[in-house]
Amino acid sequence: MKVREWDPRTASSAEIESLLDTLNAVLAADLPDDPQWQDSFLREYQSVTMPGERRISWVAEEESGRIVGHANVLLLGDIGVVELFVHPSVRRTRLARTLLTKVVRRVYDEGFSSIGVEVVGGTPAVHFYESLGFAREYVETRSVLKLSTVDWLAVGETAGSVSEGYRLEYFPGGPPDDLIEGYAVAKAATRDVDDGDLDLRPSSYDPQRLRDSLACLHGRGMKPYIVLAIHQQTGAVAGLTEVVVPAQHPTRADQYDTIVVPDHRGNGIDRALKARMLFELRSAEPRLTEVQTWNAPDNEPMLKVNAELGFMADREWYEYGADVPELLHKLDPKT
Ligand SMILES: CC(C)(COP(=O)(O)OP(=O)(O)OC[C@H]1O[C@@H](n2cnc3c(N)ncnc32)[C@H](O)[C@@H]1OP(=O)(O)O)[C@@H](O)C(=O)NCCC(=O)NCCS
Repeated sequence: MKVREWDPRTASSAEIESLLDTLNAVLAADLPDDPQWQDSFLREYQSVTMPGERRISWVAEEESGRIVGHANVLLLGDIGVVELFVHPSVRRTRLARTLLTKVVRRVYDEGFSSIGVEVVGGTPAVHFYESLGFAREYVETRSVLKLSTVDWLAVGETAGSVSEGYRLEYFPGGPPDDLIEGYAVAKAATRDVDDGDLDLRPSSYDPQRLRDSLACLHGRGMKPYIVLAIHQQTGAVAGLTEVVVPAQHPTRADQYDTIVVPDHRGNGIDRALKARMLFELRSAEPRLTEVQTWNAPDNEPMLKVNAELGFMADREWYEYGADVPELLHKLDPKT
């Protein structure tokens, strides 16, 4: 087995295909109800980043060239965020440990002091990271909505039930440039409200960062859909909801942020935004069968709206973190 640094931009198509096979074997073992990934924009998914961010990748390959393990770290701000997986057929041979040692050494050499990782509850990754002293820093619940269970008549009514004085607008691909500023203001207004998050996927609060983040999504093959609630009197963005349909698994979309600016709460905006989004997705994305979303367990108002729409809690999702020098010492005591 050989572990080497790997650049998805110049990798051969055979390598990309082999990586995809391993990823799908991992999904089948650990998340059997999740859709398998397709070979669509996988290279871009692995290589495109936001300006100022860098992703460094490694693969573990057998002599035949088959890729059976992968790790990458996204260096953003002051933290390195890791993704790491090993084919089920070669697990418990310390391959993940070897890959992680490469990652942590590099993150250390780059001068980063903390490292984070998203871990799916009920999978071996929990044991792996806990055995290395990673601490659980944040918990969310993933919920999945099956579109086949949606009561479209009720959703239609909900989409039209926003209080007078507001209108909803739908933007496939992202908001137009003249609304970006208002969109960023709305996100910034709820910054304190939403926090508690380790920010492994930081939201974008200023207009340029927002533009960059939309471009990054498109570049990675992930199509954003946005519905905005506009306060008619002022033209302000009172609320927004974001769903992304990834080319890699276009039957299951990801619900990103849903935000109602505090001054505009109590007007049925959250419900109406999400209902309108479902309606639009149904016609824009005929292959779509499910939408998944992640919520903090204490976000009761949002959980209530999601439950009304038919979202069912699926699994816990964790963010773990570790101190880089300590972790490196644990992985390689000579350090
Ligand atoms: C977590 C994961 C990377 C571990 O890979 P691995 O190569 O089997 O891990 P290692 O052999 O290096 O394990 C190192 C240590 O971690 C711990 N560990 C790993 N898997 C474990 C398990 N299933 N149960 C208990 N401890 C475990 C053990 O302490 C192990 O040391 P030991 O085997 O000497 O006891 C692998 O299970 C995996 O790929 N999971 C999917 C991760 C992922 O990204 N999923 C995303 C979609 S679900």
